[in-house]
Amino acid sequence: MEKYVIRGGKPLHGEIEISGAKNAAVAIIPAALMVRGVCRLENLPEISDTDTLLHILTYLGADVRMINRSTVELDCTHVQMDSLPEEMWNMTRKIRASYYLIGAMLGRFGRARTTMPGGCNFGVRPIDQHIKGLTALGADIRMAGGFINATASDGRLKGGTVYLDKVSVGATINIMIAAATAEGRTVIENVAREPHIVDLANFLNSMGADVRGAGTDVIKIRGVRELHGGSYTLIPDQIEAGTYMTAVAAVGGAVRLSNVIPKHLECISTKLREMNVEVEEGDDYVLIRRDGPLHHTNVKTKPYPGFPTDMQPQMTAVLCCAPGVSVVTEGVWNNGRFKYVAELKKMGANIEVDDQSAFIQGVEQLTGATVKACDLRAGAAMVIAGLSAQGVTKVEDVVYIERGYQDIVGKFRALGADITCIDEPEETEADLSGRKIG
Ligand code: EPZ
Repeated sequence: MEKYVIRGGKPLHGEIEISGAKNAAVAIIPAALMVRGVCRLENLPEISDTDTLLHILTYLGADVRMINRSTVELDCTHVQMDSLPEEMWNMTRKIRASYYLIGAMLGRFGRARTTMPGGCNFGVRPIDQHIKGLTALGADIRMAGGFINATASDGRLKGGTVYLDKVSVGATINIMIAAATAEGRTVIENVAREPHIVDLANFLNSMGADVRGAGTDVIKIRGVRELHGGSYTLIPDQIEAGTYMTAVAAVGGAVRLSNVIPKHLECISTKLREMNVEVEEGDDYVLIRRDGPLHHTNVKTKPYPGFPTDMQPQMTAVLCCAPGVSVVTEGVWNNGRFKYVAELKKMGANIEVDDQSAFIQGVEQLTGATVKACDLRAGAAMVIAGLSAQGVTKVEDVVYIERGYQDIVGKFRALGADITCIDEPEETEADLSGRKIG
C-alpha cells in the first residue's frame, strides 16, 4: 500500500505551478459526451478522477487522445451508449462526479442509466436536488438497487424552471449540462457560484451552448439542438492553491504559486492574513510568506464566495499550532467532515468537536505519527500536519489524496519538503497480533 513518509520542520521555499481545477475537470469531461465533434481540453489536471472519467468515456465509445500530460482531445460523435455497462460499475461507484453522466446522457440521448455515485465519505450526500432539477426538465427518474434510471418523457428534455432548496454544486452542474440541449428555456435559481460552475458554463458556451448568469445565483439557459467541437482551457485549481498556501502558513517559508486566479483565492488569502501570513497577489500568481508567529482565528465554511469547505481540514491542521483558541465551523456538510480530527489528535493536537464546530487549542508543535487519509482533503491536512510536526509522519491511504492532487509529493519536494512515497505491504492481522503478543 502506498504511503507518504514525511520528516517535518523544514520551511518551504521556491515556486510551483498550480494544475487545472479538479472539480471543473470532473464536470467538463462528462459534459463533452454531449458534443458531436472534437473537444480539445487544456490545463487538465493529471489525477486519478480525471483518468477514471476518461476511461469511462473511452468505454462508451469516445475517441480519447492524450496530446500531452495536460491536454486531451475527446471525440464523442460516435458514442451510442446511454447506459454504463457492468464492467464500468466499479469505476462509477468510486467517484462522486459519475452522476454528471446522467445529465450528459439525458441531454444527448434522452435516456441514462448509471450507478449511484461514490466520492469522499464524510456523511450523507443526498442527490434529491439533482432529481428535482432533472425532473423539472421532464425526466422520469427511478432509483433502485444502487442504480439511477432516467428517461426524458418525449425523448428530449424540455426547458423548465427550478429553485434549488439547497445551494448544491453537483445539482447546479448536472442540471446545467442537461439543460444545454433541452428544448426551450431553463431557469435555475439559488445555484452554486463556485469558479468551476463558471468554468463549465464557459466550456458549454465555447461548444455552442447558450448559458448565462453562471457565477450569480440565477443561471438561464436557452437549449440548442446540438453542441459542436472546440477548444477549452480549464481554470487553475483554487483548492490545490489554497492547500499549498496553508502548508506555508503551517511550516513557514516563502513560496510563489504560479498559474492561479487570485480572485478565486480571496477568502483564503484574507483568512491567512488574519493569521499573520503575508499574501502578495500578482496577475496570475500569489506569493505566500510566514516567518513570524501564527495568530489564531475563526473560520466558518460556506458556499462560494465564502470560505471553501474543501479547505476546512487544511485550515484546522494549520490552526493546531496557532497560540490560543481557534474555532472552525463546517457550514456546508454535516460534522462527518471532521473525521480527520482523530488522526490529528494522534499527533498531539488539542481539538474538541462539538456539533458543527471544532475547538482548537493551539499547541507548541505536533509530533510525527502514523495517520490515515480519511478522504481527499483530510489527507491533504495530514500532509500539512506532517510537514510542520517534529519527527516522522507516515500518511496511509494516500490513494484518496491522489484522486485530487497532481504530483503532490513532487511539488512539495520541489519546495524543499522531506517527503517520499513508499510502497509498504499492508499490515496483516498476524503482524498486528504478533505485535500485541510481542
Ligand atoms: C462538490 O460536491 C465537490 N465535489 C465537493 O468537493 C465540495 O465539498 C462540494 O461540492 C461543496 O463545494 C465535486 O465537485 C466533485 P454539493 P457535491 O452538492 O456537488 C447538500 C473535494 O474535496 N445536498 O454542493 O456533492 C449536501 O448534502 C470534494 O473536491 C443536498 O442536500 O456537493 C451538502 O450538505 C469533496 N441535496 C450541500 O448540499 C443534493 O441533491 C452541498 O453539497 C445535493 C447536495
